[in-house]
Amino acid sequence: MTLRYCHHTLCIAGRSVPSLAEKQDTPFYAYSLPSVQERARAFRRAFPNALIAFALKANRYPPILRALAAEGLGVDVVSLGEWHLARAAGFPPERVVVNGNAKSDALLQEAIAAGAQSINLDAAEEVPRVVAAARAMGKTAAVAIRINPGLDVHTHPHLQVAAQGSHFGVPPEQVLAVAQAIAEAPELRLAGIHLHPGSQLLAAADWEAVVAAAREWVGRLRSAGFPVQQVNFGGGLGITYTNAPDPQPAALAEQIHRGLAGLAPLRLAFEPGRWLVARAGVLVVRVVQVKHAWGQRFVAVDGGMNALLRPALYGARHRIWPVRRREPARPATVVGPNCESTDVLARDVPLPADLAAGDLLAVLDTGAYGASMANAYNARPLPAEMLVGESLPPADV
Ligand code: LLP
Repeated sequence: MTLRYCHHTLCIAGRSVPSLAEKQDTPFYAYSLPSVQERARAFRRAFPNALIAFALKANRYPPILRALAAEGLGVDVVSLGEWHLARAAGFPPERVVVNGNAKSDALLQEAIAAGAQSINLDAAEEVPRVVAAARAMGKTAAVAIRINPGLDVHTHPHLQVAAQGSHFGVPPEQVLAVAQAIAEAPELRLAGIHLHPGSQLLAAADWEAVVAAAREWVGRLRSAGFPVQQVNFGGGLGITYTNAPDPQPAALAEQIHRGLAGLAPLRLAFEPGRWLVARAGVLVVRVVQVKHAWGQRFVAVDGGMNALLRPALYGARHRIWPVRRREPARPATVVGPNCESTDVLARDVPLPADLAAGDLLAVLDTGAYGASMANAYNARPLPAEMLVGESLPPADV
């Protein structure tokens, strides 16, 4: 991440955060363009021939989308709104992957008309809907079967989507019947399988299980006569949310190539969201009031669960840094402005002892699922977003 202190003042991509806050009311998200580009290129280096379809749900800020489209990435969309954002940002239809467990007819029609790379079928019951939409337009739709392999990966329960009992994906016992239905429909062409394992995976062992499931399903489908040519591993590569290094796509590539050895020809696809953009973003908030009560220091800021839902929804821990660093530091509980006891951004955060109203704080690693999940609770405006580092200005040290 291109975030560092320049003479005790926090800078993102070479711009001092206070200078950004002069032009923009808080709370706002600032994204580092170089950080997004670096990550996109690292993913590409690990998988030179794969379709890397950015999960737009992680961040829908148009300049970020345009930057990723310009890097040659594809995109994964789950709604008509996401479809339109993706197309406006310059992603060509043949690089758009359509996911979702409740795709609207309008989304299906757009995707089929434009020739999306793949519509990932989430249920046996979705097959006749896609057939009908394609038939009405006289088109053929490329589809993949989103298999729910029933994996128990290590992540927050809210982020498990490939476990038994989940409402996502086709359960194992229905996969062959769905493949058969696709084969029988002249309007459909089987593009491959899709196996999104869940989100925020850090353990290599989890990926071993995902790769083994992919190998098993390619084998089962091919030996039943269904030509699987693409495996889409979905998203899921996590970040540590600390100073510790993140898992790397290069290591994942090794695992996958080992695990799928001998299965060629097979095209790979991925839908990374968090790994590409989380580290690129900070949420900048301003201290409204500091309260001393119950033996604690509560630092109330102007953006909480309305601007960043992750701590309230998943107990997620994001580092919070003072924009102007000074000693001594003392622990604080950083709380949002909303009338909810869960509106706590973080506890036990070391922050300057003299922190006062008007000071700025930065909530780190919020480029993914930050602004995209922001809401208007308590009638607060949505946080603004900005991209820094377009022309890579020198650090203002
Ligand atoms: N593909 C599919 C089909 C997905 O459902 C998701 C995420 C992704 C790709 C991207 O996964 P990623 O690479 O970002 O892990 N709001 C939560 C994350 C929910 C993820 C939902 N699906 C959070 O803030 O942690």
